[in-house]
Amino acid sequence: MSEPVTIAIDGPAASGKGTLARRLAAHFGLPHLDTGLTYRAVGHALMQVGLPLDNEDLAVEVAEHIDLGALDRDVLSAHEIGEAASRVAVMPRVRAALVDAQRRFASSGKGAVLDGRDIGTVVLPGATAKLYVTASPEVRARRRHEEINCNGGEAKYDDILADLRRRDERDMSRADSPLKPADDAHLIDTTEMDIEAAFRTALDFIEKAVAARN
Ligand code: DC
Repeated sequence: MSEPVTIAIDGPAASGKGTLARRLAAHFGLPHLDTGLTYRAVGHALMQVGLPLDNEDLAVEVAEHIDLGALDRDVLSAHEIGEAASRVAVMPRVRAALVDAQRRFASSGKGAVLDGRDIGTVVLPGATAKLYVTASPEVRARRRHEEINCNGGEAKYDDILADLRRRDERDMSRADSPLKPADDAHLIDTTEMDIEAAFRTALDFIEKAVAARN
């Protein structure tokens, strides 16, 4: 691959897009950015100082100074931080600052894999290949439930399902950069697919997109 390859992966929470993004990044030897962590970092910062999540000025301040090298997945992946992230993600000024940082990451070298909600539609509309990964809410809630319990946490399946539905609704209906597939995205429904099958499907599509470009 001579020209930089950029891969945009979008989809709702627990759809499998993160695992797929990491696998693809390793396969192509590209840097990977989980953009959800950038919104989580902003939500987490507000939670830590005990400020309401609608404090837009502070949220923007944190977003403008985000250090992509310091995003701690272990801390930020907590389920409740996902809810906080979704709430700060409705603020256009927060989005503008984070999108800026995400674009800088994507254009800094030989290409990149970015996953999130608006990568194919807003952050990298000219990406080499775009994927939209989805799965039924029940399957996503089951995956998240297993993940939390495997890590020693306690959570009720019904609560997780309700949280995911609320988060989907907020992410899909916000005015600025709502979650939706880009017109030219390849859809992958992982409801009845394991990660290996999703990876093969994605790889096939990306290889064709790269070949078509060359
Ligand atoms: O992918 P995740 O669960 O870590 O994302 C957490 C929240 O961040 C998600 O509910 C909405 C927001 N988000 C966003 O608005 N745009 C992105 N590109 C990534 C995440």
